[in-house]
Parts: sequence; structure tokens; C-alpha cells
Amino acid sequence: MLVRLTLCLCVLYLPSTLAVKGLVPEHSWDSQMHVIDPERFPLSPNRSYTPKSATREQAAAFEAGCGIAHTVIVLPSVYGTDNSVLLDALDYFNGTARGICVVNPDSVSNDTLAKYHAAGVRGVRVNFGANGTDADIVEAVKKNAAVARRHDWALELWIPLRAFKALHSIIPDLGVRVMADHFAHAEVGSRTNNTLDTIDPYRLEGFREVIDLMARKLLFVTLSAPYQDSNDAPLYQDMRVVAQTLMIKAPEMVVYASDWPHTVGQSGNSAAGRLVPQDFLKVNDSALIDLYKEWAGSPAQIHRLFVDNPRRLWQWSDPDS
Ligand SMILES: *[C@@H]1O[C@H](CO)[C@@H](O)[C@H](O)[C@H]1NC(C)=O
Ligand SMILES: *[C@@H]1O[C@H](CO)[C@@H](O)[C@H](O)[C@H]1NC(C)=O
Ligand SMILES: *[C@@H]1O[C@H](CO)[C@@H](O)[C@H](O)[C@H]1NC(C)=O
Ligand SMILES: *[C@@H]1O[C@H](CO)[C@@H](O)[C@H](O)[C@H]1NC(C)=O
Ligand SMILES: *[C@@H]1O[C@H](CO)[C@@H](O)[C@H](O)[C@H]1NC(C)=O
Ligand SMILES: *[C@@H]1O[C@H](CO)[C@@H](O)[C@H](O)[C@H]1NC(C)=O
Repeated sequence: MLVRLTLCLCVLYLPSTLAVKGLVPEHSWDSQMHVIDPERFPLSPNRSYTPKSATREQAAAFEAGCGIAHTVIVLPSVYGTDNSVLLDALDYFNGTARGICVVNPDSVSNDTLAKYHAAGVRGVRVNFGANGTDADIVEAVKKNAAVARRHDWALELWIPLRAFKALHSIIPDLGVRVMADHFAHAEVGSRTNNTLDTIDPYRLEGFREVIDLMARKLLFVTLSAPYQDSNDAPLYQDMRVVAQTLMIKAPEMVVYASDWPHTVGQSGNSAAGRLVPQDFLKVNDSALIDLYKEWAGSPAQIHRLFVDNPRRLWQWSDPDS
């Protein structure tokens, strides 16, 4: 069954066969991916785009195909604050996975949070995409941090890089582990049309603050979804300086994430509108993993990226899994 699904996935999402053996270290983590199952769990009517399905079975086959042992499943925006699909997927993963939920911090009950925690949820997400004023982002971060503190969860942020200037003085007092996704949204020259941004990411507003928070061990950042920050597909060589700066300045605060199944989002909507299912991006995940390993540069840093750092972030204490 697993083999059949893996082959099927290779056709659907990965034109190549993944090298199972040795692609990633034993006990590796994928710190952010999504399960989407509109047939069993309807999408929010307010969604900004409509993805196709990427079921829990396909997700498990994808991770197994990469040799990844632990998956962090993040509720995608198209489900609003309905975490049913996440709880179902966590159950399917039999205790090997962690979850990141999305809640209304003003109204979520303690009972609900306790239930999520028991199911394997270890994080709560704040998702502004490229939007949001600093004031709105700071308010949402503080409210969701209060939610995260109740069970010592992590706070996952998808926010514009420049918002870290406003958060720089706030994150140290939150009392929670914070993770920024997708290279903290440091956009390089192929995106901004300013090649100097690629040569020197410190030119980007907010980058200095991100590095400082990481160096003080207050912020984790994922190497994931380079297509959010660069137009240099398929291998995103222009993200190298960003990735290496993160890993040199804070080797213990960088984690790998696949962002499978690679949704496009609102910008991928056709003229037919947000309710028409759109395709996933075609991404060669094993090629990206190879790239991150090359950028990491040493076996020790590769091990930190895939195993040691996510274990600390997701509070995994079993040394044998
Ligand atoms: C959709 O948006 C409307 C208007 O903002 C809101 O009243 C409604 O509760 C939302 N529905 C869901 C399922 O989020
Ligand atoms: C979890 O266990 C069930 C029952 O043994 C099994 O069918 C399923 O494939 C397991 N899930 C994963 C992700 O291995
Ligand atoms: C919000 O940001 C996303 C990119 O993250 C973009 O696709 C979308 O158009 C933005 N929405 C608004 C209302 O600006
Ligand atoms: C929820 O739990 C927090 C601490 O964990 C507590 O301060 C708060 O009073 C609880 N809220 C309710 C409504 O019980
Ligand atoms: C970069 O230049 C291209 C081509 O001129 C243009 O389409 C794009 O909008 C520009 N992007 C930005 C962020 O200015
Ligand atoms: C995907 O990347 C791997 C290298 O990691 C390569 O062997 C394979 O040919 C690539 N597949 C495609 C379809 O480009």
C-alpha cells in the first residue's frame, strides 16, 4: 500500500523517484507541511484560494519516501480555525507527528486547547502572509503567545520580514519558542529586482533583527519554500547567502521544512476565481533537500538541521526515534 502510494505520489508531485536511503539522517523532522482533504473535511467558505487534496495517506507516503520520521502538520489557511483535518491527521500518524493549530485567541477555550495538546498539537500559527500592519501583527503575536504559553507550545509566524523590527523588543518577553517560516521571508534580488539584496541580505529591513533573535536563541527559522522568497526556480541558488547567514550566525536555530504539498495561494487563482481548485507547484523535494545539505556544509550542521534543532523546537525527548 505504502509503496503504491509512494509511486503514485512521484507521478503526482515528484516526477522523479526519491532516493530513500541516505537522503536525510535517521530520525529526521519535516517541521512544516500540510494535509488538505476537502472531501472529508470541507474547506472554509472564506478561503482565499482552493487547493486540491493532499490526504494524510499521501502525506505519510511522501515523508516515508524521503526517509523522514517526524512530520509537523500545520493547519493551512483554507481551513480558517477549523482544526478537524489536523486532529484527524495527527491520529493517523500514531504519535510520530506534531501539529500546529490556528485558533481565535479571543475565544478558544482551555478545554479545546487541552484536547489539541493531547492529540499532539505543539504550536499555534499566526499567518499574515505578506500583509498586515506592524500594530496588527504585534497584537496577534501577543494574543497567540498567551495561548501557546498554556501548554508550552511554539508560536509559528508567517509575517513579512520587516515586522521583525517591531517584534524585536517583544519576542524576548513572550516566554514561548518562536519559529518563522520560509527563511523568515527574506526576499532576494530575483524577487525584489535589487541584486544587492541577494549579495547582502542585511540590506533587507528586519533581517538584522531576525539574526539577533536567533543568535540569542529566541527564534527558529525554517529552510523551506524558497519559492516564497525567490523567483530563481528550480534550484534557488540565489537563496544561498540567506541560508548560510542563518546557519553561520545561529547553527542551532535553523530547521528543515518541506512545505509539501506546495500550495500556491491567492496569487495562483485563475480568472475563474478563488473557489476553482488550483494545482500545486511542481517541486523536486529531494533536489531541495540536497541543496540544503550542500548549504549546511558539514555532517554536523546537516544533523542539526534535520534532527537536533527540531527535537528541541518540538520537545522530542526520545533519542531512539
Ligand atoms: C466568513 O466570513 C464572515 C464575514 O467576515 C464571517 O461572519 C463568518 O463567520 C466566516 N465564516 C467562517 C467559517 O469562518
Ligand atoms: C498508524 O497505525 C495504523 C494502524 O496500525 C496504520 O494503518 C497506519 O498506516 C499508521 N500510520 C502511519 C502514518 O504509519
Ligand atoms: C496577502 O499576502 C499574500 C502573499 O502572502 C498575497 O497573495 C495576498 O494578495 C495578500 N492579500 C492582501 C489582501 O493584500
Ligand atoms: C485557562 O487557563 C489559564 C491558565 O492555564 C487560566 O489563567 C485561565 O483562567 C483559564 N481560563 C478559564 C476560562 O478557565
Ligand atoms: C521586477 O521586474 C519585473 C520585470 O520588469 C516586473 O514584472 C516585476 O513586477 C518587478 N518586481 C518588483 C518587486 O518590483
Ligand atoms: C530531482 O532531484 C534529484 C536530485 O536530488 C535528481 O536525481 C532527479 O533527477 C530530479 N528529478 C527531476 C525530475 O528533475
